[in-house]
Amino acid sequence: MESKVEAVGILGTGRCMPEKILTNNDLEKMVDTSDEWITKRTGISERRIIDEKTPSRELGIIAAQKALQNAGLSAEDLDLIIVTTATPDYLTPSTSCMIQNGINAKKAAAFDMNAACSGFIYGLTVAQQFIMNGTYKYILIVSCEQMSRVTDWKDRATCVLFGDGTGAAVLGPVEKGNGIIATNIGADGSVGRSITIPCCYSNDEDREKRVNDKINVINMDGSEVFKFAVKVMDSATRKVLDYAGVSIDDVALIIPHQANIRIIDGAAKRLDVSKDKIFVNVDRFGNISSASVPVALDEAVESGRIKKGDYVVLTGFGGGLTWASALIKW
Ligand code: ACO
Repeated sequence: MESKVEAVGILGTGRCMPEKILTNNDLEKMVDTSDEWITKRTGISERRIIDEKTPSRELGIIAAQKALQNAGLSAEDLDLIIVTTATPDYLTPSTSCMIQNGINAKKAAAFDMNAACSGFIYGLTVAQQFIMNGTYKYILIVSCEQMSRVTDWKDRATCVLFGDGTGAAVLGPVEKGNGIIATNIGADGSVGRSITIPCCYSNDEDREKRVNDKINVINMDGSEVFKFAVKVMDSATRKVLDYAGVSIDDVALIIPHQANIRIIDGAAKRLDVSKDKIFVNVDRFGNISSASVPVALDEAVESGRIKKGDYVVLTGFGGGLTWASALIKW
């Protein structure tokens, strides 16, 4: 066991997106929808769809290797791999075990966790504890999602919203005062039925809700989730800022879960921040569940939108229902 550390930060990030692009115009040929409706109601223009024969772990492995390279570490350095996913390749073996094997991280323990779209920030919070208390030094988080495989392509209310992709981050000790300053994670299971994807069990209500004959697909009460999302992204962000005594004006960039541009704009308005402080890629990728935040984070780092010393807020919401925010000093 390592001695206790004073701060934990993100040492490197990576992403791997499927090559295939599904545009709103493509969707017009599949369901009764229009580019105009999707753009106006969601801000999404296109999304990436994973190849039929490719398991999401394969993209996750590439994202993980990029994150390790950017962190200047190798797979043998890893003590733990956490995969966040609501759409694993198998229920068992876990995606984390398959990625451990794929990157040859021989000494790493591995487990999957599911907090839906809040997953990456939940993972960050868990990983931070293991490193802070000295149990582990280097932890890899990989967020792997293949929403297209649980999408009912005949349900226009949901099929226009989601996409596939993977994002990763390597965490380790950093200098005191840097890295993850505060996190806030939460859940409200009483409203959990607002988003469901049945798996090993389903009931009559689940069967009645389906549009098509598939049962293990997303069903969602969009307007309920919408109201919840705007509220919790605001309150969870305020909590991490208050805890750290940091003003929203001092934050250089906010990276919200990319579900819908109207949700992002609504949260920004409540937080009273200008749009140029909010990172947006929902137009290109749609909602990729837990991969949304790490993919956006990797793009923000790569494009120079985050500089050393910047305060960055990650915030999201998702199935469960869950929410999560983190304040990071980069
Ligand atoms: N194309 C055209 N019309 C559509 C479509 C579509 N793709 N989907 C719905 N409509 C219609 C509806 O049938 C309805 O028609 P009606 O008025 O004749 O009944 C009309 O458009 C309005 O529907 P609403 O559901 O009220 O539209 P709204 O403005 O609420 O937008 C949306 C729907 C985009 C789903 C929005 O509620 C939303 O983004 N909610 C949050 C969803 C979300 O974030 N989910 C994921 C979070 S968790 C996770 O990621 C796993």
